[in-house]
Amino acid sequence: MATAGPLLAAEISRVGEEVDEGFDRLLPVPRDGRAALFEAMRHAAIGGGKRMRPLLVTATAALFHVDRARALRAGLAVECIHCYSLIHDDLPCMDDDDLRRGKPTVHRAFGEAAAVLAGDSLHALAFEILADEDTHEDPFVRADLVRELARASGPGGMAGGQMMDLAAEGAGDLDVGAVTRLQQLKTGALIAFCVEAGAIMGRLPEAARTPLRGYAHDMGLAFQIADDIIDARGDEAAAGKRVGKDAAAGKATFVSLLGLESAERQAAMLVDQAVAHLHDYGSEANLLREVARFAVERDR
Ligand code: IPE
Ligand code: IPE
Ligand code: MG
Ligand code: MG
Ligand code: MG
Repeated sequence: MATAGPLLAAEISRVGEEVDEGFDRLLPVPRDGRAALFEAMRHAAIGGGKRMRPLLVTATAALFHVDRARALRAGLAVECIHCYSLIHDDLPCMDDDDLRRGKPTVHRAFGEAAAVLAGDSLHALAFEILADEDTHEDPFVRADLVRELARASGPGGMAGGQMMDLAAEGAGDLDVGAVTRLQQLKTGALIAFCVEAGAIMGRLPEAARTPLRGYAHDMGLAFQIADDIIDARGDEAAAGKRVGKDAAAGKATFVSLLGLESAERQAAMLVDQAVAHLHDYGSEANLLREVARFAVERDR
């Protein structure tokens, strides 16, 4: 990943190892009729992926001196939701993809039924992790985390955005406002949760959260525009997933709406805006600044 700065590159590999270890611990394969389900969950959750969401949780939580092991648990929870969303996103009834993170998609490797159930199970696991007292000793903090992740995942967040994404296929009549809202729900809401989780665990007062929320909002939109650019311009081997599919499916994206160059300018502008929201933070927020830059400079 040549495009990540040194601080971020080190953190990506550290969080990557921690997330793999966490899932390995959480998902031992039982010797009964559920073995294929656990293998499918492990296939989706272990190995590969940039782990941007857990990294955002730990980087934000570190600003408020939250214990790293606890922040990582919240990061694992959001990564569970993310991996489940990818399994379902790849199903034939959605984007119908056969390659994810450089491996066959879960339904290609384990069949559709196991893929649906692996998604369901990762979804449940996310909330089991958050509700456990190892994540935070204060039940009010745990309830806050659970509520915010539920909001970000459901019809007012990721699942709702996925529905809009499918409904817009071939409709061809979405304007910038509508595509922005679609992307904000589909991808932005979970990214916003990551930053919010750091603030919740750090017990940051509500009024002090505005800059972080602005950062997450702009970064999340830039992140999805970059995903759309990778689809349009990208290199399949680097991306680890099929490219050139959005145009073929008639997806509504910033690239389809504005063209590649304008979409790139829009993403770069959003990154500048995201970083500007952090102006009251010092060098302790450098990792978040690097994440924002990386969100659009990445090739996978
Ligand atoms: C891909 O997410 C799907 C989107 C929501 C944009 P990522 O680009 O974070 O995928 P991984 O986790 O690195 O595989
Ligand atoms: C998926 O967006 C967003 C999710 C909520 C999973 P895409 O369909 O563009 O993601 P990729 O390109 O398949 O990773
Ligand atoms: Mg999709
Ligand atoms: Mg897809
Ligand atoms: Mg995409």
